[in-house]
Amino acid sequence: MNPSAPLLVYLPDEAATLSFAGRFYRALPFGCLVFLRGNLGAGKTAFVRGCLREAGYNGAVKSPTFTLVEEYFLGGCAVYHFDLYRLADPEELEWMGMRDYLRPDAICFIEWPERGEGVLPDADVEIDLAIEGASRNLSVMPISSIGRKIKENLM
Ligand SMILES: Nc1ncnc2c1ncn2[C@@H]1O[C@H](COP(=O)(O)OP(=O)(O)OP(=O)(O)O)[C@@H](O)[C@H]1O
Ligand SMILES: [Mg+2]
Repeated sequence: MNPSAPLLVYLPDEAATLSFAGRFYRALPFGCLVFLRGNLGAGKTAFVRGCLREAGYNGAVKSPTFTLVEEYFLGGCAVYHFDLYRLADPEELEWMGMRDYLRPDAICFIEWPERGEGVLPDADVEIDLAIEGASRNLSVMPISSIGRKIKENLM
């Protein structure tokens, strides 16, 4: 099978999304960059919530729509959750010090990465969520060699 081909996963309900996100998180190495794509309400934030639950975080997961980024420090790992929907210009990411977030000891999740195009580096792996009523069709798209390894671990 082509190692760069997307892995397709059918998620019948939100619980399935949270549970798959937990498995996904376990396959993530430190330092990786994850893009989340999909329409408003597709479940990108829900997916990140599933990852954070797996990481042992039980508090509320706020959507970083207005703050742009929420930070979590969990068991020696920093997790940064971005939502760039309201970014006016990709240049704003330079002013925010985006480079400081993309560290080898941190994991970054970015919703609406298309808003940061030109400034953001390529992701290691992209998650795409498509709405089908209460279910979702999810694709895991490996971009880098790290992303291909993550996908392999999920198969
Ligand atoms: N199978 C499913 N997986 C994920 N979420 C689901 C599912 N079925 C229903 N939902 C609901 O869909 C909504 C997803 O909202 P969420 O905030 O995660 O979307 P989002 O992609 O982050 O949107 P935005 O682009 O506005 O940030 C939630 O209200 C959730 O309860
Ligand atoms: Mg969201």
